[in-house]
Amino acid sequence: MEELVEKAREALKNAYAPYSKFRVGAAVLTKSGKIYTGVNVENASYGLTVCAERVAVFKAVSEGDRDIVAVAVVVDSDEPAAPCGACRQVIAEFNPDALVIMATADKRKVITANLRDLFPSPFRGDKLKS
Ligand code: THU
Repeated sequence: MEELVEKAREALKNAYAPYSKFRVGAAVLTKSGKIYTGVNVENASYGLTVCAERVAVFKAVSEGDRDIVAVAVVVDSDEPAAPCGACRQVIAEFNPDALVIMATADKRKVITANLRDLFPSPFRGDKLKS
């Protein structure tokens, strides 16, 4: 888990956050043992911004690696930040019980949670009509 936080921290340098100046790095661990990193990517058309967690999840899934075990989120701030609702829903698609690790870049504060506690009622594909 320390390695996962470290990878997310290393990714921070690539965050593209010229508007909010709030840099976020994420790292996703899959069952295969591989780690995929992501950063927030902002846009002049603000609403097009994508969070670090979703970038990391989409990288894993686009490599065919869907069994998400844990997601680390590191912020360049004094307090850890929990994934936004959209990211919780996206992570839950692949593992509603994923371990979520939230840390500050200086690693002084690290909080862990089960996604189920952060996001108890995800929308599931089985609700869709066949
Ligand atoms: N952000 C993330 O990357 N992950 C989160 O969980 C919360 C917010 C980004 C989006 C935007 O670039 C900046 O942080 C401020 O909201």
